[in-house]
Amino acid sequence: MPTTCVVGILWGDEGKGKVIDYLAADADYVVRFGGGHNAGHTLYLPSGKLVLHLVPSGIVHPHTVNVIGNGVVVDPVHLCGEIDRLIERGIAVELGRNLLLSERAHVIVEAHRLQDAWGEGVRSGGKIGTTGRGVGPAYSDRCARIGLRLGDLVDPARLDRALANLVEQKNAWFGPAGIPLLDAAAMRNTLLAAGDRLRAGIGDTGKLLRDASAAGKRILLEGAQGCLLDLEHGTYPFVTSSHASTGGAYSGSGLPPHEMRTVGIVKAYATRVGEGPFPSELKDDTGDRLRVAGKEFGSTTGRPRRCGWFDSVAVRYSGAVSGATELVLTNLDVLRGFDPLRVVVGYRLPDGSKTTDFPAFELERLTPEFAELPGFTEDLQQVRRFEDLPPNARGYVEAIERHTGIAVRTISVGPERQQVILR
Ligand code: GDP
Ligand code: IMO
Ligand code: MG
Repeated sequence: MPTTCVVGILWGDEGKGKVIDYLAADADYVVRFGGGHNAGHTLYLPSGKLVLHLVPSGIVHPHTVNVIGNGVVVDPVHLCGEIDRLIERGIAVELGRNLLLSERAHVIVEAHRLQDAWGEGVRSGGKIGTTGRGVGPAYSDRCARIGLRLGDLVDPARLDRALANLVEQKNAWFGPAGIPLLDAAAMRNTLLAAGDRLRAGIGDTGKLLRDASAAGKRILLEGAQGCLLDLEHGTYPFVTSSHASTGGAYSGSGLPPHEMRTVGIVKAYATRVGEGPFPSELKDDTGDRLRVAGKEFGSTTGRPRRCGWFDSVAVRYSGAVSGATELVLTNLDVLRGFDPLRVVVGYRLPDGSKTTDFPAFELERLTPEFAELPGFTEDLQQVRRFEDLPPNARGYVEAIERHTGIAVRTISVGPERQQVILR
């Protein structure tokens, strides 16, 4: 099964970057299939920490071809800057060789960021707490069939036609809404300059990946965000605007549905950035301790992440939606010193009844029910074999498998590439 899809299981930041970096050693292609530079994927290299937003996490491996698929929304100005910063770090990025961009990927422009901020400001139901990167409005324009695609940036006449569609529809309501109007001439210059810079990388990545798959190449699909931020399966409306679960891997890469290994990444506890329901959230001292121990601050916006206990109901739901047949459990080392450990095993609904299903509505009115497990005090970061883990850490992992029904095949015990236990 040469294709592996890695997806976040909860609300993002589960450690996908670290896991992709680890798995990319055995991959020919690493493909981002959704999201934009709202993502922040952290890698620890011998030279130190590296956060990638748009460039796939295989870029640090010289042999991998990295693809930004058609399902991604690309801010071309941001992408040029991210490539520059990688090159400054000594990482080889060569458009057309180890970084390829789908000509069908939609483009984020400044107006999308303005619209993102405007949308947050007018929501009477409360802010979503977006990353402010313009991701939602760019996907909206794709659905409205007025979006720009990367392939438009390399052909001035084509860009002019696409810009005309975008500008006439946006400016019809931007003015009344108080959002600065789009200036097609200024946008044209910026976009053509970015197009010139990126030209060598822009092409039909869907065909390339289908051919690679037919030739038996090893393809690693890198999810962004997580299943509970998925536009359709997540905690709507507090979600992102893309199909972050496995469904998006096919449409967002151009690969046809075929058998693949789906690996779900989940922390040994739960975190969320931004607003929205979070049944196992700890709004107390224990939550603060988790934030400090796990250095839980957003990789993209720097916002403090909300922290809570591991939620088996949510994980089982996301596992089912994503088809994950195995979990990578990250940040187990962070739970050192927390005693007892708690794991959500069910929810009590407002009417007093119980459920082990993940509801679509009124998640904020649920009361989670917990199983308690004894904690551990040992440092796990140097452990490399499951049998060398302290008994209570092993017991915790086994409890997670029991309550979620999904095998934990890999355990991460530190941010660095080699801090991994394979079972
Ligand atoms: P992503 O968005 O899923 O790639 O995750 P982020 O990079 O946004 O956040 C995960 C954070 O956890 C990063 O700071 C990682 O360096 C860190 N991390 C990943 N795995 C581990 C682990 O096993 N232990 C610890 N302590 N940190 C980890
Ligand atoms: P990675 O790939 C965590 C969250 C935002 C907000 C919601 C909508 O690093 O796991 P958006 O800007 O997408 O419209 O914001 O989604 N969000 C993330 N949270 N990790 C991410 O990516 C996220 N990308 C978006 O905080 O709640
Ligand atoms: Mg992240």
